[in-house]
Amino acid sequence: MGQRSAQWYSGTDRNAYIHRAWMRRGLPTHAFDGRPHIAIANTASDLTPCNAHLNEVAESVKQGVYEAGGIPLNLPVVSLGETQVRPTAMLWRNMAAMATEEMLRANPIDGVVLLGGCDKTIPALLMAAASVDLPAVVVPGGPMITGTFRGVALGCGTDVWKLSEEVRAGTLSEQQFLRSESSMIRSRGHCNTMGTASTMALLAEALGVIIPGVAGTPAPDSRLLESAHDTGRLAVEMVSAERRPSDLLTRGSFLNAIVALAAIGGSTNAVVHLLAIAGRLGIELTQDDFDRTGANVPLLVDLQPAGRFLMDDLHRAGGLLAVLREVRDLLDPDALTVTGRPLVDYLDGAQIWDPEVIRVREEPLLPQAGIAVLYGNLAPSGAIIKPAAASPRLLTHRGRAVVFESIEDLHARIDDPDLDVDADSVLVLRGCGPRGYPGMPEVANLPLPAKLLRAGVRDMVRVCDGRMSGTAYGTVVLHVTPEAAVGGPLALVRTGDVIVLDVAARRLDVDLPAEEWALRTPAPETVRAYAEPARGWERLYVNTVQQANTGADLDFLLGSSGHQVARESH
Ligand code: FES
Ligand code: MG
Repeated sequence: MGQRSAQWYSGTDRNAYIHRAWMRRGLPTHAFDGRPHIAIANTASDLTPCNAHLNEVAESVKQGVYEAGGIPLNLPVVSLGETQVRPTAMLWRNMAAMATEEMLRANPIDGVVLLGGCDKTIPALLMAAASVDLPAVVVPGGPMITGTFRGVALGCGTDVWKLSEEVRAGTLSEQQFLRSESSMIRSRGHCNTMGTASTMALLAEALGVIIPGVAGTPAPDSRLLESAHDTGRLAVEMVSAERRPSDLLTRGSFLNAIVALAAIGGSTNAVVHLLAIAGRLGIELTQDDFDRTGANVPLLVDLQPAGRFLMDDLHRAGGLLAVLREVRDLLDPDALTVTGRPLVDYLDGAQIWDPEVIRVREEPLLPQAGIAVLYGNLAPSGAIIKPAAASPRLLTHRGRAVVFESIEDLHARIDDPDLDVDADSVLVLRGCGPRGYPGMPEVANLPLPAKLLRAGVRDMVRVCDGRMSGTAYGTVVLHVTPEAAVGGPLALVRTGDVIVLDVAARRLDVDLPAEEWALRTPAPETVRAYAEPARGWERLYVNTVQQANTGADLDFLLGSSGHQVARESH
């Protein structure tokens, strides 16, 4: 036990003295006798409101670690508040992952408990843990409980989009809109819709890195603290058993996560996050795996934004395990969890308590729920769409492009009464990929023109090289790759071109003779819209970020460096 931390603490030489002496502020001598030192990589931050309660969760983890004979050590790591950080939290996901990776490697620890919640935090922590490959287990911070406004449940994020569109449509007053603000966020925890935070917590459980049954426990629920305590105990056991991320995160566990993603109707952002985590382990996983493995999985969970209910309903109805039990035959039976037992072992005891929230396999909400990957002359390396969140009638569509060069261009013109646009138009927004923005923001669900909203239009086909909030909905083609800023054909589309979307055929094309298409070059104003940061992280990021279809990680962060550090500090 504790072999790695003993490299710092054992012995009688000057360096071991230094490592021990500075830690002896309450830690007794026997803390350095070889027992496991467990870091608690903690994304608690007042500026990440969804994770602000994680210090309390960390206290329960600590008690569990002590109880099992380990030494818990709180390690605050870079935190990302989805709603606060500009220009987009996604710009900093890789930085949070890199900083966490380096601090896990640099410090005298034997294992780690990862505390995350808000969208980017669990992905960043898992990318880091995968590259260091010390025993690691996640405690997800959990969703908030549901607030109501005028007697109706509010879905975080989703209803912000809905209510703000109602204001622009003229069917809700600004005063009522503002009154809803204090009802939106009713407790600690992350968004209660099936947005990215909920999705990634559930997928982490499907991957095997959370104690089965824990993901989805609401943040204020006392059982979350009980689970945190259990997880602290488990982390100590995982060190003894040398149970590492590379033992749990296999191609089979990623395919299990893809099945889960479809069955829960999860966020499209899971595609870039799972690809990025897999990239840290050298696992062969491609965007096409999401279509191949997920496309025929039924949608079983009726949660906003695509459906009706919210995360506390899902937990009450039986949680992820009850969902996975319905699709057990699609899961890899060998994929292990942090407990050392296969995920499928935990499905026997699972039960659906509310068949409205979790459907049985025979009565799905949709027979085919997965994410569709589209190809065509507009997306040679792929684009994705979530059919479950789209309008069925728009999944096959021809329409005239209305092109916006940037998010600023969009905001300046979208509500212009003279904008030449109708309900059949295809709204195109470019310059929003990882390289172009930079950071690949959640802007793909572009707002509809106010004049069309007032005419009753509630969905249109939209095409973008950016991402979409997991809490959003609509017929939105996103992650168009290669992005416009690296020379993708999206840069060549002009207002007036006819765009053809055919989701059943998995096609996204501009209806233009190949000869004419080949002659086009991007307009100067298109190129001018791309970011050219001069220094700092943004500079490093635009120089090294990969495209969305492989996870948008930095090229030099692929793979693992392990946890050995040969050199001493003195
Ligand atoms: Fe943090 Fe939605 S803003 S999870
Ligand atoms: Mg988000």
